[in-house]
Amino acid sequence: MSVKIIVGAQWGDEGKGKIVDLLSENVDIVARYQGGANAGHTVVVDGKTYVLHLIPSGILHPNVVCVIGNGVVLDPQAFLDEVALLESFNIKVRGRVFISHNAHLIMPYHKLIDTLKEQGAEKIGTTGRGIGPAYIDKFARVGIKIVDLLHRDVLVKKIRSNIEDKNQILSKIYHSSEINVDEIVDKYLQYDKQLDEFIKDTSLYLNQELKAGKKALAEGAQGAMLDVDFGTYPYVTSSNPTSGGACTGLGVPPTAVDSIIGVAKAYTTRVGNGPFPTEQQNEIGERLRSIGGEYGATTGRPRRCGWLDLFSLKYSGMVNGIEEIALTKLDVLDDFNEIKVCVGYKYSGKPLKSFPLDLCTIEDIEPVYETLPGWKTKISKAKKFEELPQNCRSYIEFIEKYLGIPLSIISVGAMRDQTIVR
Ligand code: GDP
Ligand code: IMO
Ligand code: MG
Repeated sequence: MSVKIIVGAQWGDEGKGKIVDLLSENVDIVARYQGGANAGHTVVVDGKTYVLHLIPSGILHPNVVCVIGNGVVLDPQAFLDEVALLESFNIKVRGRVFISHNAHLIMPYHKLIDTLKEQGAEKIGTTGRGIGPAYIDKFARVGIKIVDLLHRDVLVKKIRSNIEDKNQILSKIYHSSEINVDEIVDKYLQYDKQLDEFIKDTSLYLNQELKAGKKALAEGAQGAMLDVDFGTYPYVTSSNPTSGGACTGLGVPPTAVDSIIGVAKAYTTRVGNGPFPTEQQNEIGERLRSIGGEYGATTGRPRRCGWLDLFSLKYSGMVNGIEEIALTKLDVLDDFNEIKVCVGYKYSGKPLKSFPLDLCTIEDIEPVYETLPGWKTKISKAKKFEELPQNCRSYIEFIEKYLGIPLSIISVGAMRDQTIVR
């Protein structure tokens, strides 16, 4: 069976959308395995820019079937809006996008609680899309699944019971007004009709197709450093973007996975709060943001920017089992005289041997940098590795040597053809 996992290797927004679109040319199925409409995956094709939140980034290839797996938390309105947007661009969606009947639904109270919680003292800087509260309900075993839409009585009962609970939280903890049950029941009964044609047992479908020789890409959202288990907890998302999440989030066995590609930016960005050792809160960070257009694809928030952090990337390579890396946005560094790369962390003056997972340590570490010369040449037209300036090739080789992982794809612009495949 042939599943290739495409995983974000940093703090999200690495350019997964572009790489998934690129690799979709040679596959039959592209499947999202976790997260929800917190993701914003940008694909630029024929001068048009598409920002996808829930629908996999393979959708622009007409022969690819797209799957939204059981590991995703689905906001029905966000999904229907995305379908409408793609259809307005004359992209066929119906009959080629399937949602797992086993995925959980985002409910209005999830978004409300997400937003209210963020108004308190402990701010994660979430996207406000209801992700955390929806996964809390999933694991508390009170979540509402897509399959529940098929059984009207169960749906109404579950919504009522959830809203009773949530109204307690809303009024007593957040001193907010309560939610009207009937309004939500009516809305979700409508969604039932609208979503019906998209619903499938996608785990069964994927396993059957893979057995029959079809090829699939598993598209991760967010990135390893935002993983609830392996990221900079608690400043993380509430799912497992790391490669292990692909199997549980799609219902395919680990034996079906034949390769894992990590997507990493040539520098680092992060949106929201939390540790970011190589952040540059200065003119360098501002230059990276303005040249790289580093504003959130989902919320429009300015992204925090800094140098490439190879120490965290090595850790990400380990927990994901990354075998090759797609390095993106290398062109953003074209104008820098010097480029710094973090090659280690020091804590209390001593080098750390492994990536620290306790917040107190990571907030107190000092990054150790190596400085490499810039190339001061525009590289967006390069089609082969050999066409890149010497200093640029040295930057790539430095990363490969440090990580012990080949950089098999080098992206030098947002468009499909601005890519060097080695
Ligand atoms: P994702 O969430 O990982 O899919 O990444 P985003 O779409 O949120 O952010 C990546 C941004 O960089 C998008 O605007 C892409 O169009 C853009 N992009 C991707 N690759 C390149 C590249 O190699 N060079 C430049 N300049 N932009 C790129
Ligand atoms: P893509 O797939 C970058 C961040 C939020 C916040 C934290 C938790 O486009 O790479 P959440 O709403 O998930 O509870 O927020 O995670 N975050 C992302 N950052 N790219 C993303 O997705 C993100 N999705 C969530 O900013 O810090
Ligand atoms: Mg993004």
